[in-house]
Amino acid sequence: MRPDTELNHLLDWVEGLRKRVREIAREWESEEGNLIMILHAIEDELGYVPRGVANELSHELGVPMARIYEVITFYHYFRLVPPGKHTVKVCMGTACYLKGANDLLEEVERQLKQLEATGGHQGEFSVENVRCIGCCGMAPAIVVDGETHGRLCPKAVEELLKQQREK
Ligand code: FES
Repeated sequence: MRPDTELNHLLDWVEGLRKRVREIAREWESEEGNLIMILHAIEDELGYVPRGVANELSHELGVPMARIYEVITFYHYFRLVPPGKHTVKVCMGTACYLKGANDLLEEVERQLKQLEATGGHQGEFSVENVRCIGCCGMAPAIVVDGETHGRLCPKAVEELLKQQREK
């Protein structure tokens, strides 16, 4: 794509996004607790809440940016950065914690650091700590791209992430 075509494409995308933010803001304007619903709608649509979108919302709703960021950072659900291609949720609920969830989390972080150091794509994986995912009998457990894996050791995590990247 030529650079000017690429720029026009990007500007169209930004304008479309701005229009969509206004639509979402209007849709929820009169509702109680509308800010959270608007942020949910944006998160569902984009996978995160970009700073520019938060800024647009602030103008549309007349709500200070600080208040918007207060809500975004208070709730675990909202992200400020785009999600990675793969998502890894490490269960830190009591059963998993007692059976070594911390070791799994450390291994995930170690693998991702190694990946970045060796030129892997930054942001390829999104990692989250979550509370009980409802399969304590399989502790310690993690969910990779929506699939639950249990009774894991750090070595198995390494293998799992490697397989996921190859898919
Ligand atoms: S504590 Fe991890 S699945 Fe329940």
